[in-house]
Amino acid sequence: MQILVFGATGQTGQHFVRLALAGGHSVRAVARTPGKLTLVDDHLEVVQGSITEPLDLDRLLDGVDAVVAMLGDRQAQETRMINTEFVRELVPAMRRGGVRRFLYQAGGLSAVPGKRLPLVLRIVRRTIARSYDGQHRDNEAVMRYLDTEARDLQWTVHRAGIGSDGPSKGTLRRSSSWISIGTFVDCAEYSLRLLTDDRAVHTCDGSAYARGRRD
Ligand SMILES: NC(=O)c1ccc[n+]([C@@H]2O[C@H](COP(=O)([O-])OP(=O)(O)OC[C@H]3O[C@@H](n4cnc5c(N)ncnc54)[C@H](OP(=O)(O)O)[C@@H]3O)[C@@H](O)[C@H]2O)c1
Repeated sequence: MQILVFGATGQTGQHFVRLALAGGHSVRAVARTPGKLTLVDDHLEVVQGSITEPLDLDRLLDGVDAVVAMLGDRQAQETRMINTEFVRELVPAMRRGGVRRFLYQAGGLSAVPGKRLPLVLRIVRRTIARSYDGQHRDNEAVMRYLDTEARDLQWTVHRAGIGSDGPSKGTLRRSSSWISIGTFVDCAEYSLRLLTDDRAVHTCDGSAYARGRRD
């Protein structure tokens, strides 16, 4: 596949790009600061750009099979839904370009449309994770938009739970009832698999390690 990646310089994104290339895919990465991507690969194209500034999405989507967004800017998202604004531009551009597949990585503390978070997660979000509340509100607005206005596209949202950039702790699987505290590399590997998992289309599930693993 030719994959267009937003957030390629991020903690999940860097792993995602490396794994996608290793898996034989080609990557076009949009980065505010291209120098942050230290990978060099014949199948990696880096385009300078920001989602909060005008982007030539039609050109970026040319020849693309799937789009991946692993975006976050905690400070900006405190006051502005930058991801939602961007996805609202991206989706019509994907329709114009005939690109149907979209993987969006959100967080386990972002609620699925129409559902409340379990009480314990609501408490975590209001206390130790409160500085990320804007990011979760933005991710929730993206999910609502995809759910209500973009069901013609094959989108999947991965509500990741990530605790560290340590080594792999195992293989993550989709779960609507449990979210493991994974590592960035495991979340990236799982998100890459999700891109070709038709059963995951139109889901906003979490991911969990197989039973018996230490979370
Ligand atoms: N970090 C966690 O512990 C965690 C846990 C669970 C879920 N998540 C979710 O996973 C997703 C990705 O998180 P992450 O921690 O992997 O990402 P991250 O390390 O915070 O990186 C975010 C990425 O978004 C890019 N970005 C931000 N603003 C941009 C803009 N205006 N234009 C273009 N690119 C922009 C950043 O580029 P720059 O390099 O230029 O800043 C970076 O590549 C988020 O939805 C987050 O809620 C994160």
